[in-house]
Amino acid sequence: MFKINENYQKLPGSYLFSTIAKKVAAYTQANPDKDMIRLGIGDVTQPLAPAVIAAMHKAVDEMADAATFRGYAPDLGYEFLRSAIAENDYKSRGCEIAPDEIFVSDGAKSDSANIQEIFAQDSRIAVCDPVYPVYVDSNVMSGRTGSYDANTETWSDVIYMPCTMENGFVPEFPKETPDIIYLCLPNNPTGTTVTKAQLQDWVDYANRVGAVIIYDGAYEAYISEADVAHSIYECEGARTCAIELKSFSKNAGFTGVRLGYAVVPKDLKCGDVSLHGMWARRHGTKFNGAPYIVQRAGEATYSPEGKAQLKAQVAYYMKNASAIKSGLQAAGYTVFGGVNAPYIWLKTPDKMTSWEFFDYLLEQANVVGTPGSGFGPSGEGYFRLTAFGSYENTQKALERIQKL
Ligand SMILES: Cc1ncc(COP(=O)(O)O)c(C=O)c1O
Repeated sequence: MFKINENYQKLPGSYLFSTIAKKVAAYTQANPDKDMIRLGIGDVTQPLAPAVIAAMHKAVDEMADAATFRGYAPDLGYEFLRSAIAENDYKSRGCEIAPDEIFVSDGAKSDSANIQEIFAQDSRIAVCDPVYPVYVDSNVMSGRTGSYDANTETWSDVIYMPCTMENGFVPEFPKETPDIIYLCLPNNPTGTTVTKAQLQDWVDYANRVGAVIIYDGAYEAYISEADVAHSIYECEGARTCAIELKSFSKNAGFTGVRLGYAVVPKDLKCGDVSLHGMWARRHGTKFNGAPYIVQRAGEATYSPEGKAQLKAQVAYYMKNASAIKSGLQAAGYTVFGGVNAPYIWLKTPDKMTSWEFFDYLLEQANVVGTPGSGFGPSGEGYFRLTAFGSYENTQKALERIQKL
């Protein structure tokens, strides 16, 4: 008789977005005439940039000809893409990352979920609270998190690092020493980030205690402030303690196209064992490459036209972010984020819980956002709005909220 991986039974269930969908569906059914504005889910809405589309068309034509047809991609990804990444995302910023330290993937969700596989079963993980749920859930599935306490909504073997307005959303070094530290900067859901000096402190800490940092830089393209690092490898010593994960989803609108990469420096070792070698082995066994057409699309994001077009797209979303931020502040809300990330994190008014504010906004303004408590206990009393909507809808939503 087969047995299941019992760890899956421990997962409390991803109620957040399904509960939101159910509440919105029930409300729209009861109020079919209402015009709902959705600023909840972190998905992009603008079409792919023309330079990307042109590269994809060209690659499709290549696939139609036996002379230029491509089958399986090389294990680590095509050289043309890895070189473009090394040059543009690293060398141009003074970071020493070689093309063969870059592993092309189908996105940061898979990489951030899979990376735990190369670490020992008894590794202690530390996460920010609130947190992108994939880091914790992937460790639950592999049996690394202990037991779940439904009252506190925490796992017994996970180290939580609260990020709240009290500490400026900057995680503090935990009391217990972790083995694996997940950092997502700029952050989803809070939309906040840390300075390069603060990140350097984390790199120094990780090197000191012998921990590895899994650094999720999915929102790097939204950084606007000069003292914020675009890569953890801008910090001295990061090559011996950090794995960086990147995504083309938010900077280039590839959420439906699927492309990302992981950087595992060759200096990152556990004794004599190189994590680079382990990840290469894992990648070679379990992943057969991102599609050629998509890797060509990724390469096009680094062309001069591609860069200019993506810059304009990011600016479009950040115009929304800044409108939401200033509009809410004018209406008396306490607001965070929205400067280096496309997320606005607001304090709910009148001590409302995150879900109470969700209902209030849904019913009174017909605006859908995301309750902060869905991202972890320290998210209670906060609420996330995204800048990924259209400018018109964002303005309309703001006007409605300001009238409340
Ligand atoms: C922090 C963070 N990491 C990773 C992802 C997923 O990225 P990808 O689309 O590359 O899988 C998201 C998506 O919302 C995210 O917020």
